[in-house]
Amino acid sequence: MQDGIQTRCIVIEDPHEPTAADLDNIRTAGQVIKDGGLCAFPTETVYGLGGDALNPESSGKIYAAKGRPSDNPLIVHIADIKDIEKIAEDIPGAAYILAEKFWPGPLTMILKGNGTVPPATTGGLSTVAIRYPSDKVAAALIRAAGGFVAAPSANTSGRPSTTTAAHVLEDLSGRVDVIIDGGDVDIGLESTIVDLTESTPAILRPGYITLDMIKTVLPDAYYDPAIIDPDSGEAPKAPGMKYRHYAPKGKLTIVKGEKEAVARYIAGLAVQKRQEGAGVGLMVSAENREFFDESIFSVVKTVGEERDDGTIAHNLFAVLREFDEAGVEFIFSESFDGGRLSDAITNRLLKAAGYDVIEV
Ligand code: TXA
Ligand code: MG
Repeated sequence: MQDGIQTRCIVIEDPHEPTAADLDNIRTAGQVIKDGGLCAFPTETVYGLGGDALNPESSGKIYAAKGRPSDNPLIVHIADIKDIEKIAEDIPGAAYILAEKFWPGPLTMILKGNGTVPPATTGGLSTVAIRYPSDKVAAALIRAAGGFVAAPSANTSGRPSTTTAAHVLEDLSGRVDVIIDGGDVDIGLESTIVDLTESTPAILRPGYITLDMIKTVLPDAYYDPAIIDPDSGEAPKAPGMKYRHYAPKGKLTIVKGEKEAVARYIAGLAVQKRQEGAGVGLMVSAENREFFDESIFSVVKTVGEERDDGTIAHNLFAVLREFDEAGVEFIFSESFDGGRLSDAITNRLLKAAGYDVIEV
């Protein structure tokens, strides 16, 4: 463990338009990574915990700082499409098609590695995960760090991913050299992962770039069965998908069904648990908020609007962390299905709930 490192914070006022002074600071942070240190930084999806992807010691530090199992590989972040050729081989045409359409952006590709990225970063796999983020601060940092930055989400392993620098400090203060504070991230859920190492492109993790969007350029693309049904008997191809994830400290249960019936059922559960003397938190949509009077249900969090589920994606991890702060023992959430991002949201919510779903 690296507790005890003096964590330095660099604040970027407007991450969409970094100033010359900001870029100077980012270069300094890049040098920290080049020298084998760790720097947490914003991306358009979630905050990343960055180290030199080509330096096995840096990757070792990342695993230690997060408390992450070392068979769970890291994504290599680049800031130039051509750099895929420096770390991957047998690159299929599909990779260039996806890069052209979605990079820079919230999409990660799995390609066959050429041996340049060490096993300490790839979890010993022969493949390598690569992403070119659109966030300007992230791209500047990656260039300053030498072009290849390994970065998992900047949270303690098992906790919700971080979407603000304050969350990163909460989990990693004293375990990372630098945190670049670029404010609240744009999207709030991690990148879509597409495996291009088999004949048909498979989505291993749903995200902001949806299956339908990918199908517009790669019509054969499909979901890896393991992400749709945890009981499918298929081992997930993304090793990280098998671990308990995003979990708040309270026991989370999802209640699924017709809107008003769900609201009534959640209210009943909340009253029952409170009568038993337990602390209860409710996670609801703006549309259902009126059903829950705060004076009766105490910890009620509006996660976003169902009619614009980008707001739910954006707030989900932050709200799960707020329940930890409130110290509730039970959390009941609506399910948020039907919108553009429902696959990505549901995937995170199910993991956070350990697949505990009540259908009403
Ligand atoms: O949006 C994101 O992707 C964020 C930001 C920081 O870029 N990063 C992120 O990293 O979510 P992480 O480590 O939390 O999740 C990476 C996922 C894990 O589930 C891991 O198992 C999978 O990617 N992965 C990495 N390399 C892989 C590989 N070669 N084959 C299959 N899955 C891989
Ligand atoms: Mg993660």
